[in-house]
Amino acid sequence: MQSNNEEIIQIKDLTKIYQDGLPALCNINLSIKKGEIFALLGPNGAGKSTLINIICGIVRPSAGEVYIGTSEIRKDYRMARSAIGLVPQELVTDMFERVIDTVNFSRGLFGKPQDPARTQKVLQDLSLWDKKDAKIITLSGGMKRRVMMAKALIHDPKILFLDEPTAGVDVNLRRDMWDMVRELQKTGVTIILTTHYIEEAQEMADRIGIINQGKLILVEEKNELMKKLGKKKLVLNLRTPLTKDISDLPLESSPDQLQLTYTYVMGNEEGISHIMRHLDERGIDYKDIRTEESSLEDIFVGIVGTKL
Ligand SMILES: Nc1ncnc2c1ncn2[C@@H]1O[C@H](COP(=O)(O)OP(=O)(O)OP(=O)(O)O)[C@@H](O)[C@H]1O
Ligand SMILES: [Mg+2]
Repeated sequence: MQSNNEEIIQIKDLTKIYQDGLPALCNINLSIKKGEIFALLGPNGAGKSTLINIICGIVRPSAGEVYIGTSEIRKDYRMARSAIGLVPQELVTDMFERVIDTVNFSRGLFGKPQDPARTQKVLQDLSLWDKKDAKIITLSGGMKRRVMMAKALIHDPKILFLDEPTAGVDVNLRRDMWDMVRELQKTGVTIILTTHYIEEAQEMADRIGIINQGKLILVEEKNELMKKLGKKKLVLNLRTPLTKDISDLPLESSPDQLQLTYTYVMGNEEGISHIMRHLDERGIDYKDIRTEESSLEDIFVGIVGTKL
């Protein structure tokens, strides 16, 4: 969870129009709280990478401002940049370099003296220590991605951007990376990630922003989002097909009349006892009962109209 409500990034009226003239970002306003994990969700081409790349000073905005603490990124570029680590969506590094050299080089870029103990710790945390002398080109895709993470972390940034950090990474490794991100959060690092894996946002994020066609259409605490928009279903499987009239009850029956479903807003369970009492009174007997929860995926589809 975030440690406090202090804002570490402020984005004001940010717009980006690339040369082709189409707006990739329209008037984005967003504040990121110190110590939180913020997940940016959106379909391909929504503007996620553009937003991250502007904050990191890689893409120039067409209009608007971004502050890291009190530094405006274009006016105080070095200060802003040294606070940030970025794991870009596309792997960009010299493939013929050794792992340890490319990581140390990244630290040097920020004017920090080499620190062998720090390099070792970062590489060990990412299970890359035994590959430290390997050329990057000889590594697997998941390992290359972890090298990018090592490069982003080596100068001890206060804010870490992860643009699709686990795309193409297997499930076990993905879990390891999530654990590592949580550990980083415990040390006070603020984390902003983009992802196509709803499960990743659902599991990791304190807050979620949904972006579509360059517009930030919703920003919400994850738990609030789940509570507000999450639906629950109570499903009853009957012993025999339904013959009694239940049209006065808020239930849907399956075509074979063997299943009844009650859909309700999460946290609003009081309707259940009313339904159960009425079913009892009418002698409608069920053999089992279960509840189902809607996922962030269902919520996303409900808002944006498409799957991720
Ligand atoms: N360098 C560029 N020049 C021109 N247009 C660009 C450039 N980079 C991105 N765009 C356009 O800006 C829009 C947003 O792209 P962006 O890469 O930010 O999306 P994204 O949400 O990160 O998508 P994905 O999920 O595929 O990574 C797209 O329409 C894209 O074609
Ligand atoms: Mg992207």
